[in-house]
Amino acid sequence: MQKLVIEGGTPLFGEIITQGAKNAVLPVLAACVLCEGKVMLRNCPCISDRYASARILSALGAKVTAEGNSLAADCSDLSSDDISSSLMKTMRSSIIFMGALLGRTGKCTLCYPGGCNLGPRPIDMHISAMRKMGAVISDEYGVISCTAPEGLKGCRHSLSFPSVGATENIMLAAVTAEGETVISNAAREPEICCLGDFLRACGAKISGDGGGRIAIEGVKKLTPPPEPFEIIPDRIAAATYISCAACAGGELLIRDCAPAHLEAVIPVFEQMGCRLRVFGSNIYIYKKGRLKAADTIRTMVYPGFPTDAQAILMAPLCTAEGTTVFVENIFENRYRHADALCRMGADIRAEGKVAVVTGVPHLYGTVTEAPDLRGGAALVCAALGAMGTTEISGISYIDRGYEEIEQVLSSAGAKISRMTEEKQ
Ligand code: EPU
Repeated sequence: MQKLVIEGGTPLFGEIITQGAKNAVLPVLAACVLCEGKVMLRNCPCISDRYASARILSALGAKVTAEGNSLAADCSDLSSDDISSSLMKTMRSSIIFMGALLGRTGKCTLCYPGGCNLGPRPIDMHISAMRKMGAVISDEYGVISCTAPEGLKGCRHSLSFPSVGATENIMLAAVTAEGETVISNAAREPEICCLGDFLRACGAKISGDGGGRIAIEGVKKLTPPPEPFEIIPDRIAAATYISCAACAGGELLIRDCAPAHLEAVIPVFEQMGCRLRVFGSNIYIYKKGRLKAADTIRTMVYPGFPTDAQAILMAPLCTAEGTTVFVENIFENRYRHADALCRMGADIRAEGKVAVVTGVPHLYGTVTEAPDLRGGAALVCAALGAMGTTEISGISYIDRGYEEIEQVLSSAGAKISRMTEEKQ
């Protein structure tokens, strides 16, 4: 068991290079299943969810090799279309292999995916979309068996909600399906565009990704791009490091972070009194003195304020002057970090979709536990600005999405270390 030990109160100075995006690399790794040949990827973050995806690919018979942030996956010869429940449970993104495997082999067996506990996370939209494309799917005691004896057929999908995962799954199923697939009310997140770019580089015919209507004309097969494909920067990791500076104070340059993907987030930091400047693909942040409360923050699908940044922005607002209201519209149970922040001295009332954060002068270090990935990151941000020492356990959640968070922050002057706890 490992924990992060953070001594708060040291301002941050320096540069942080943004890691590759977790939520972009995972669907791209699933897409490798559709390519016969060796796919090379660059800027893959070294996070545990990426390793879990690589383990799934290996279990399917792919040859996966990696060196730092570069990864090669060769899915020329797959030997299985079955993903064990232990692999499925490691993360939510495992469900994306359903569309890819159906497209490649016409069958797969898997079970319900894991992922952070953010309230109910059904996969009904994924399943009904695959059925609409001709897959026969049975669910017996949680084992989901899928076959497409006649192959998948393109069709029209109108999503009742622009689900990121369902949009990705349909894209993966559709690229080699027969005929045209249209996804209306599709998710528009940058990670969808990254998947679209990758699939196009492999020969897929896709248009409209990034808008609400994606059209896909099925092709016979996909071939790996000749050049390594570059994963986009992680907008939520960038927001997290900006938030670390907002909590601890100081001056940071967040490099290579695609500021256009943070258009809903940057103005909130500015409203809080942080000084932000965008230089090309870099964001500079300077923070001194006490922050101010922000206008109501409502999480929305992209390009709205991202649910993944909700906890991360709550941390600095805990010590801002005034009251900020959060409305979480995407997940039912995404305030699990509020209790932990309250134990550090924050004043947060959370009920249902709404959390009311009244700023207090200081947070105080304590012994605490990461409730989920972004909630854990919020505790790191809060601890950097708190008085005294905070110990955060449950950091396997944080490792799912952040590459060596303690090294990144130490390089900017934070007093943070990873320690291995003795089992009691
Ligand atoms: N939903 C359904 N049925 C479905 C699919 C989704 O009801 O079949 C509901 C969900 O329960 C939720 C809403 O739709 O209430 C949004 O879910 P969505 O499918 O868009 O999310 P996801 O694909 O499960 C991805 C990210 C999340 C991010 C959300 C929203 C990955 C691996 N995960 O999840 O990232 O919060 O989109 O932007 O891409 C994180 O990185 O910490 C994280 C949780």
